[in-house]
Amino acid sequence: MSDGEKLLDLTTSHLNTGMRGVPVGTCRTSYVTPTEGVHYCGYPINELAMLAPEDVIYLLFYKELPNLEQSVSFRENLKSRGALPPTVEEVLATLPVDGHPMDWLSIGLHTMGMSNTTNDWAEDALNLIARMPRLMGLIFRYREGRIANIPEDDLTLPLIARFTNTLDLDNVDKAVMNRVLSTYLVLHMDHGGGNLSTFAGKAIASGHATVYSAMAGAMNALSGPLHGRANQSCFEFVQRIGTSDPAEVERFVRGELEAKRPIFGFGHAVLRTEDPRAAAQFALGEEICPEDEFFRIIRVLREVAPRVLSENPRISNPNANVDIASGTLLNYVGLNNPEYYTTFFGWARTAGIGAQIVDERTVMRNGKGVPIYRPKYIAEEQSLRHIE
Ligand code: MLT
Repeated sequence: MSDGEKLLDLTTSHLNTGMRGVPVGTCRTSYVTPTEGVHYCGYPINELAMLAPEDVIYLLFYKELPNLEQSVSFRENLKSRGALPPTVEEVLATLPVDGHPMDWLSIGLHTMGMSNTTNDWAEDALNLIARMPRLMGLIFRYREGRIANIPEDDLTLPLIARFTNTLDLDNVDKAVMNRVLSTYLVLHMDHGGGNLSTFAGKAIASGHATVYSAMAGAMNALSGPLHGRANQSCFEFVQRIGTSDPAEVERFVRGELEAKRPIFGFGHAVLRTEDPRAAAQFALGEEICPEDEFFRIIRVLREVAPRVLSENPRISNPNANVDIASGTLLNYVGLNNPEYYTTFFGWARTAGIGAQIVDERTVMRNGKGVPIYRPKYIAEEQSLRHIE
């Protein structure tokens, strides 16, 4: 991109559209194309799906995949930062158990920040990421009232295993759970600069609030049903379908459309083909749970819904998105309550949002950083009346 290059002819039709399509900055961590979906630092997501989350976090922060030595030393670095301040557990113990887990997550992040902030953007972002597995595990334990015998946080374990160790569910295959969560985390870590939660987090950080406050705000943005909480709604939708018979699934989809209810798990703001993150999760599901009834349902839905949705010429992308399969896989490995699903999305995004905050605060504009966000709003007639 050359200096002074024209990117968009702004017209009044761009106003009050949620800034859709309006370029406002550059992003160093990822970009999304309508046909290939998200790329992290140039790598298409399907090439990264099977990597360890630690290596992908490294990629988002340092813009290259680590070699073996860098990978080992980064894992040690995260371990050294991982201890969650004890106040966080004390605060979680006081929260209402019927509060949404995303609100617990936001409060947990605020409490982390109140207990320990260095005010160095990169230090705080990495500390936050290193403490997420324990925070996530404790949110489950306290909200579910399973507070007896919580295992110590084993900081020698990889990030995902620290979470499953704290969660400590009986009768689950921890190896398969770790695998599903690892893929889930990598697929959800980043999605360009303009998605609502990332944008909100960077906007808050532009006023020099702490990384913790910015991340808590980002999680609040992610918690709405039009953004991250769609993955909860999607699995609830799949549960309601209740059958993998193709004709019944089609009848269900048509019935929902007639009742003007959304078809969850399809469509996307940027993509115009099936989201590769959906394809990666389907591939994993075919390997680990091809006979699971919910997996059978989404396999049929993936065929039926795009066909039915594309009958409506106003739908620009009728294809499966990232939410279609994630709940089914989480449920299969023993994470059965969809209310928690968006917290995994949030956990994953702490990597991308953290890296983007660090870039905007310390790298952009030759290290000066992006100034405080201050878009322009045009006065409407009512607001001008007083000065007439
Ligand atoms: C996603 O992961 O698909 C996004 O956060 C949604 C978006 O890009 O607006």
